[in-house]
Amino acid sequence: MSSPIVPEERVLPRHIAIVMDGNGRWARKRMLPRVAGHARGLEAVRRVVRACAERGIAYLTLFAFSSENWKRPEQEVHFLMDLFMTALKQELTQMHDNQICLRVVGDMAGLEAGLHETIRQAEEMTAGNTRMVLTVCVDYGGKWDIVQALQKMTQENPDPSLFTQERLASHLAMAYAPDPDLFIRTGGEQRISNFLLWQLAYTELYFTDVFWPDFDTATLDQAIAAFQSRERRFGRISEQLTA
Ligand code: IPE
Ligand code: IPE
Ligand code: MG
Repeated sequence: MSSPIVPEERVLPRHIAIVMDGNGRWARKRMLPRVAGHARGLEAVRRVVRACAERGIAYLTLFAFSSENWKRPEQEVHFLMDLFMTALKQELTQMHDNQICLRVVGDMAGLEAGLHETIRQAEEMTAGNTRMVLTVCVDYGGKWDIVQALQKMTQENPDPSLFTQERLASHLAMAYAPDPDLFIRTGGEQRISNFLLWQLAYTELYFTDVFWPDFDTATLDQAIAAFQSRERRFGRISEQLTA
C-alpha cells in the first residue's frame, strides 16, 4: 500500500512567544549607551506586532522584563519602566484601531501605581478586540507563574489529591491563550531565561543571532518557515500523524 499523501498545508503558528534579547549588544556595537538599544527595540516591537496581525497570528507574546531583570542597574530599570509607560500611552489608539487586545502579565508588585493604572486602562479599552491578543510579560518569570498558579489552586481546594495538570494550567497567568507553538529568541543566546516554563513543554524553539532592534519581517518569516518545516510529534511516531 502506498503511504498516505500528506497535505501540503502550511500551518501558521497560532501562538508565537518571543524573548526580545540583544538590545544592549546592539547598542554597544554602535558605541551607544545600552538604553539606546532599548529605545530602538521599541521600533522592532511595532514592526512585529503589525506583521503578526497581518499574517493572521492569533496570539503574540513578548518577554519585555523578567523577574531577574530587577538585578540590573537602577537607571536601566527606570529607563525600561518609563519606556514601557510611554509606549503604552503612545501605541494604545493604534492598537485599538487595529483590533488588538492587549494583556500585560507578570508579578508586577514592584511597578509604580501610575503604571498599574495605565495598564489597567489599556487592557480595559482593548478587551473586546478579537484580531490578535498581544501579551506583554513584565516582571514575569515562569517559576513565579507556576507558584502563583499553585497558590490559587490550593486556595480553591487545598486537597492535594485534586491537584491535576489541567487545574494548575487553568490558573497560569496566560490561561486565556493556547500554549505557544513557536518560541523565538533573538540575540544569539540559546536559553529560556525563565520565560514560559510550563507552557513551552512542546513548543518549537527557534534561535537567531539577530539582535532585537534589527528584528524585521524577513527574520519573522524565516522563523515561521522553520516552524512549518518541523514535524510536531507530541510523543507519537511519524506514521501516526499521517494515518
Ligand atoms: C533585552 O535586551 C531587553 C531586556 C532584557 C529588557 P538586553 O538588555 O538583555 O540586551 P543584551 O542581552 O544585554 O544585549
Ligand atoms: C531575557 O533576557 C529576558 C527578556 C528578554 C525580557 P536576559 O538578557 O535577561 O536573559 P539572560 O540574563 O541573558 O539569560
Ligand atoms: Mg540580554
